Amino acid sequence: MNVLLVGSGGREHALAWSLSASPILTKLYCAPGNPGIEAVAECVPIAASDSDGLIAFAKSKKIDFVVVGPEAPLVAGLADRLEAAGIKALGPSAQGARLEGSKGFVKDLCAENGIPTGRYARFRDAGAAKSFADALDLPVVIKADGLAAGKGVIIAESRADAHGAIDSMLGGAFGAAGSEIVVEEFLDGEEASFFALSDGEHVLPLAGAQDHKRAFDFDKGPNTGGMGAYSPAPVLTDTVVAKVVERILKPTVAAMARRGTPYMGVLFAGLMIKDGEPKLIEYNCRFGDPECQVVMLRLKSDLLTVLTATRDKVLNAVDLRWTDEVALTVVMASKGYPGMYASGSEIRGLDEASRLDGVQIFHAGTARRDGRIVANGGRVLSVTGTGENVAQAQQRAYAAVDAIDWPEGFCRRDIGWRALARSG
Ligand code: AMP
Ligand code: GLY
Repeated sequence: MNVLLVGSGGREHALAWSLSASPILTKLYCAPGNPGIEAVAECVPIAASDSDGLIAFAKSKKIDFVVVGPEAPLVAGLADRLEAAGIKALGPSAQGARLEGSKGFVKDLCAENGIPTGRYARFRDAGAAKSFADALDLPVVIKADGLAAGKGVIIAESRADAHGAIDSMLGGAFGAAGSEIVVEEFLDGEEASFFALSDGEHVLPLAGAQDHKRAFDFDKGPNTGGMGAYSPAPVLTDTVVAKVVERILKPTVAAMARRGTPYMGVLFAGLMIKDGEPKLIEYNCRFGDPECQVVMLRLKSDLLTVLTATRDKVLNAVDLRWTDEVALTVVMASKGYPGMYASGSEIRGLDEASRLDGVQIFHAGTARRDGRIVANGGRVLSVTGTGENVAQAQQRAYAAVDAIDWPEGFCRRDIGWRALARSG
């Protein structure tokens, strides 16, 4: 098969790495890709947002299957357009991608189908939103309804902060994404992510992972896209996973099918687990980044076969194999991320680091300049270790981090702390 992967981050490097090993692959392209992906795919300079360019390229190269990594093109209807052009694609239709693209839509779907989630209401009017927020215990969660690049969630610790967040969102701080908001009860417990595939009818559970959202050690500092992750997530025991699948994922997929908008693609459930009871925080319509990196390292089955079975609606015939190993990834970011940072600094030692035992380095935001690898983004590398347990995976990932010579970068030194604390 000729396959086109869309995207350019660490998630896409992990997907490309996994797809490139497929026995049914003829040629893998990635648009636009990155210098790490170049080792396993031919990168073509077409932006993920350029659907005309992607469709023309797919036709010219006789692409049999397109895998879309990021959410924005899916929410904008890339999968619909590819399929309309006769090109098979992995990823939901724009209607399906509303599971990520509209937080209010998901909350209503949960309410209508008895799917466990926090209490909420949807608002366009600030006064009504404030009254509802005032009746909830603090902290109160205020969310822009639409996609806001991961920034549209405010956890307000005081009434004044809640009112401020409501005014600023409805006042246009997130543009159209915030013209409607969701005001929501704060859920406490332990957060984890669970990934599954759906072909519109069946749900195939993949694996769980835990992410580290804050920029600095001890979960301090600003929220980021994710500074590290590991899989499996100890909080997601078999019993909890069974509840996630039966009470959350299956009813969601069934409800989407009943609405006439079946959901096909990756279903990423953001969960809060308290006393063994999972509640849905949110859905994403794609793999997480950096969670994808650790999930791909544990998957032993052929990813391309699994993803084509998803598109072809035969997921019920798929049986997956996973390693028993733990995978843990440390994100190396440009100093200043998630705020302002400089690009262009050279990164040395990548080859030496990647030769270490049980290490895979995924590029997230790099560029090649005069034959050298330079930083070209906020999150730059996703340095991943595998091992028999969290401690070994962590030790291997940090050994690789220490072998990388990049003074302009930083990382957290405590990725995996929660899992280590549990295992004593
Ligand atoms: P999001 O940008 O939607 O991924 O949300 C960012 C983060 O906000 C989540 O990963 C949670 O840590 C937190 N969060 C969102 N909604 C809630 C909630 N209802 N209760 C507690 N934490 C929440
Ligand atoms: N790491 C969280 C996300 O990809 O949304």
